[in-house]
Amino acid sequence: MTLAVQQLRFAYPRGGEELFSGLSHDFATGALTAITGPSGRGKSTLLYMLGLLLTPTEGHVLLDGTPVSAASDRVRAELRARRIGFVFQDSELDPTRKVIDSVLEPALYAGWSRAERLADARDLLTAFGLGNRAEHRPGQVSGGQAQRLAVCRALLNRPSVMLADEPTGNLDHGNATLVLDALVEAAHARGSTVVIATHDPFVLSRVDEVIDL
Ligand SMILES: Nc1ncnc2c1ncn2[C@@H]1O[C@H](COP(=O)(O)OP(=O)(O)OP(=O)(O)O)[C@@H](O)[C@H]1O
Ligand SMILES: [Mg+2]
Repeated sequence: MTLAVQQLRFAYPRGGEELFSGLSHDFATGALTAITGPSGRGKSTLLYMLGLLLTPTEGHVLLDGTPVSAASDRVRAELRARRIGFVFQDSELDPTRKVIDSVLEPALYAGWSRAERLADARDLLTAFGLGNRAEHRPGQVSGGQAQRLAVCRALLNRPSVMLADEPTGNLDHGNATLVLDALVEAAHARGSTVVIATHDPFVLSRVDEVIDL
């Protein structure tokens, strides 16, 4: 699935400064693109727009050439559920839900039953060293474990577009490698379009393209 932005501008309401100054870019399919730049420059905001969670003030986000950023809530929710995986910067996870159910949640949004995807979800947790945390709540795991959990959650549906906000921010080198390998595989082996907001030189060294905001 192709992902592009055209003439993008965004300002948060009530006097937020204008971001992106008319950015146009085609994100390479089957490749990893990093978004870098100083704190506050809009890396997370750009991912929210690519993930159809925020609507640009001007310009468009295009999926397969179709402008979708101003589509109805229903259409955007459907695209998010079926085509887009998102790893948030602060791994926002429901504290009341077990780890295994957090991983499964996007699959349920996309129309699968819990039983259909339970084995895949367990396999992903095991691959990320969280096999023995499946029945815990997110509040009972470490920051780094929560981040790996957020990556499992985003990977389960094998989305065409993977958006990850500082996915290695809380991780030691071994776990950062695990997470990055999974994102590289999603792009290079499965053809996902992967976009990562990051400052991490290790991540920057392994992506195919860098956008410096
Ligand atoms: N909900 C919001 N309401 C108003 N302004 C916001 C909101 N979220 C972010 N901003 C502002 O928009 C700008 C871009 O923020 P954003 O979080 O996208 O930056 P960033 O590049 O991801 O920074 P960091 O590297 O610290 O994560 C900043 O000036 C920030 O203060
Ligand atoms: Mg950010």
